Amino acid sequence: MRDTNETSDLPRILLEWYDVHARAMPWRVPPADRIAGRCPDPYRIWLSEVMLQQTTVATVREYFQRFTARWPTVADLAAAADADVMGEWAGLGYYARARNLLKCARAVVDQHGGQFPADHAALLKLPGIGPYTAAAVASIAFDLPYAVLDGNVERVLARLYDIHTPLPAAKPELMERAEILTPSKRPGDYAQAVMDLGATICTPKSPACGICPWRDPCTARQLGTAPDLPKKIPKKAKPIRHGTVYLARRKDGAWLLETRPEKGLLGGMLGWPGSDWIDTGEPRPQGTPPIDAQWQVLPGEVRHTFTHFHLMLTVLYAISPHDASPLKGQFILPDQFRPSDLPTVMRKAFDLIL
Ligand code: ADE
Repeated sequence: MRDTNETSDLPRILLEWYDVHARAMPWRVPPADRIAGRCPDPYRIWLSEVMLQQTTVATVREYFQRFTARWPTVADLAAAADADVMGEWAGLGYYARARNLLKCARAVVDQHGGQFPADHAALLKLPGIGPYTAAAVASIAFDLPYAVLDGNVERVLARLYDIHTPLPAAKPELMERAEILTPSKRPGDYAQAVMDLGATICTPKSPACGICPWRDPCTARQLGTAPDLPKKIPKKAKPIRHGTVYLARRKDGAWLLETRPEKGLLGGMLGWPGSDWIDTGEPRPQGTPPIDAQWQVLPGEVRHTFTHFHLMLTVLYAISPHDASPLKGQFILPDQFRPSDLPTVMRKAFDLIL
């Protein structure tokens, strides 16, 4: 381990870099304003952190702007209809995040009078707030000295200390390093600085070590191992699942859609009725059609990758008789239906028709 003096220099060096190079983000208070006493809005920090899990900053910007324009405070979000929030989240993926987002907003209103608690333990008790988000909100919104460890930070620290233990086994060791490094002064800016460093300089491939503020203390740079770190246990190949979706349109333009059950994949999201998705090796249409009609198989298929499997969907299309009473779902008139409310895989099925 490094000696204390050297360790305490590292945050200072990084903060000096961040003061010049901090990325501008719609939820962020720039370092000069933060030093002058302007505080970030905990609601915006929490929302951005939930969106940023598994999603790039570029994508999150747009969603963040739409969410905060529509629901400027946590109380506004808590009062929103579930379907509206799920619709705005459509396309961001990992939909359990959106269900928990609403639960959390409502808990903040019911249990904390509409103010996020400035307390790590209380944050951790809120729905959908795990160790990463609690630490991120505590440090960024409230400037409390909690260490954040996301993928970017893991990479930076594995290189700084030349840690060859593969992820995820290396996490406890990396967390220990992250906690030792976190300064008591400006912990929030420091947390954002390490993440920015990982996103812009200490990148997975071809890290820009020559312009890195930590180039001198970085052990992996000295040893030439930076591009090979962090080590990762190889991921298992994903199985392929097959399924069928049924797109029915009435002559008045209404589409047959269902809200998927709360539990399970795409839970609470709007979607086309269809079969289960199973790993048969058989891309044949399956399941029971939701109405009696002349179904035609659309040319092409939908391919979509989820965390644990690839999905191939056969898409069937029919014009529905006006008086059809569907086994599943409801007809939704065109003025009530925004295709952008569909999760990406369902949107891909819709796009096959166009
Ligand atoms: N990635 C996740 N949270 C971030 C943040 N607050 N700053 C930069 N990158 C991030």
